[in-house]
Amino acid sequence: MCGIVGYVGDRQAAEFLLEGLSKLEYRGYDSAGIAVYDGENIRVEKCVGRLAALREKIKDDVPQGTIGIGHTRWATHGRPSDVNAHPHTDCSGDFVVVHNGIIENYLALKEELIEKGHAFKSETDTEVVAHLLEEVYNGDFEESVREVLRRIEGSYSLVFMCRQHPDRLICTKQDNPLVIGLGDGENFIASDIPAIINRTRRTYILNDGEMAVVKKDAIEITNRKGELVTKKVFEVNWNAEAAEKGGFEHFMLKEIHEQPKAVRDTMSQRIAKDGKRIVMNELKWNADFLNNFNKVYIVACGTAYHAGLVGKFYIEKLARIPVEVDVASEFRYRDPIVDENTLLIVVSQSGETSDTLAALKESKRRGAQTLALTNVVGSSIAREADQVLYTWAGPEIAVASTKAYTTQLILFFMLALYMAEIKGTLPDDEIAHFVSMLQQVPAQISETLSDVEPIKTFAKQYGFNEDVFYIGRSLDYDVALEGALKLKEISYIHAEAYAAGELKHGTLALIVEGVPVIALATQKSVYEKTLSNIKEVKARDAVVIGIAAAGDEELEKYVDHVIHVPETDELLIPILTVVPLQLLAYYAAITRGCDVDKPRNLAKSVTVE
Ligand code: F6R
Repeated sequence: MCGIVGYVGDRQAAEFLLEGLSKLEYRGYDSAGIAVYDGENIRVEKCVGRLAALREKIKDDVPQGTIGIGHTRWATHGRPSDVNAHPHTDCSGDFVVVHNGIIENYLALKEELIEKGHAFKSETDTEVVAHLLEEVYNGDFEESVREVLRRIEGSYSLVFMCRQHPDRLICTKQDNPLVIGLGDGENFIASDIPAIINRTRRTYILNDGEMAVVKKDAIEITNRKGELVTKKVFEVNWNAEAAEKGGFEHFMLKEIHEQPKAVRDTMSQRIAKDGKRIVMNELKWNADFLNNFNKVYIVACGTAYHAGLVGKFYIEKLARIPVEVDVASEFRYRDPIVDENTLLIVVSQSGETSDTLAALKESKRRGAQTLALTNVVGSSIAREADQVLYTWAGPEIAVASTKAYTTQLILFFMLALYMAEIKGTLPDDEIAHFVSMLQQVPAQISETLSDVEPIKTFAKQYGFNEDVFYIGRSLDYDVALEGALKLKEISYIHAEAYAAGELKHGTLALIVEGVPVIALATQKSVYEKTLSNIKEVKARDAVVIGIAAAGDEELEKYVDHVIHVPETDELLIPILTVVPLQLLAYYAAITRGCDVDKPRNLAKSVTVE
């Protein structure tokens, strides 16, 4: 996720570009840049760091000109650095581009372009687009951009500038947002409405495959076939704060709804073209490498630790390698048995969590091979680990982690399949089956998000209870832990998750009339056992909300309410069942009037012990 802006009009472009980018920093903030046509050339200014660093860099010499583009970056390909910052140019500097998204076939294109003599400055996928435009340019800017679009694959919103056509910007999008703000004698382009809301409330929202040629006094929009599109003006009536949250009341809700895309982005480029296997270009592991390990540790904190529990299940089940999971604050001080035959996997959304980083350093000191699963390119953990797999969830602003968790689960599942293929623990057709199930997950999350009304009702009904219990077995227990943590941290309701079979060893004493119990029952091998545990709490007059897979008509006989999630393989179902639990926590917090995005006593990134 990155933020992009464009301006064409009579005023100084840099003024809008910097203002617009400041409203898009929530989309990424590891580097920033602008490009402005000065009447002769396109001047590009960019640097690593937040927008403030760019402002400081150019404060005595702001690029002058009335057409330009800008970018605030959230690194995906290439660490945060001056050269990797956008805008990117071709060899001549005549073509300049800003991009939000991932160009999946950039490596193949890059090789082809290098053979044709193009010299690259950055490690990004985006620079390929600028060089490709230079390569195919035939004097017709629009037609050449169309040719570029025919050649690139992936997700993007893009804005192009060309020195030979200094009266226009061309923008287009596929799976990433882009809006055009309609001014008077000037027009604006942005990833999102907050960037333009101070200038205009009249917008065109571009659809996938549409391309717009934006001049100061005219906008022409065409579809993929080049046919003219007549668009309706969308009048924005949100206030600036709501606009930043994409119209959602809180960042947490926005991020819950971003999960289908976050999961899709995390999968992209890691599924083979034939859709039958997982490719992990970042790792290049082989059987010798994996056979070297007699132990795998997964170490993390909080929600990332909960993702690690699911990761253990996946790796053990699919790749048949024993895994131990530990919370980083315990692991680092317990003199763990770690040596050169250990693979340590750390999981961290922020990549900055102090305990996780310390566990990583300690394991490296003892000779372990280390792999980080993180969401932040260039973070301390990403830099410290021997190898890194990124979740491409985009920035997570709300303190309570949601989309980071689901993308961590997806990544663990893919990693386990990748290991299984190397170890030969799964036949090819079974791997292909799992990969096809995996690809359905984004749509299934969307389906889960499409009907939140029952969850809102439960949250209103039970939101003032002092205690809530979550139970489940196997993977359901791991998700129960995450559900309980979400409820605790944002609604301040005391919530406990229990392995359902453990209830009778103590906790059952707390189950009295009217206590809500959220019971997850999706795992076939322990389904009957879970039903028995549900009957135990029902017998003590608990109110039970069951979470089940679609098609399960049994559970409703034993519980008070049921929430169904789409049917999938039971290994993948945690990625779906966690969604109603996130929503339940969210709406319970709303019911209780809590500060959802900034719960008391907590911080997004815990860089202290
Ligand atoms: C809970 C939450 C925290 C984090 C934990 C680790 O919603 O967000 O429990 O998961 O502080 O943070 P990262 O993943 O950044 O290392």
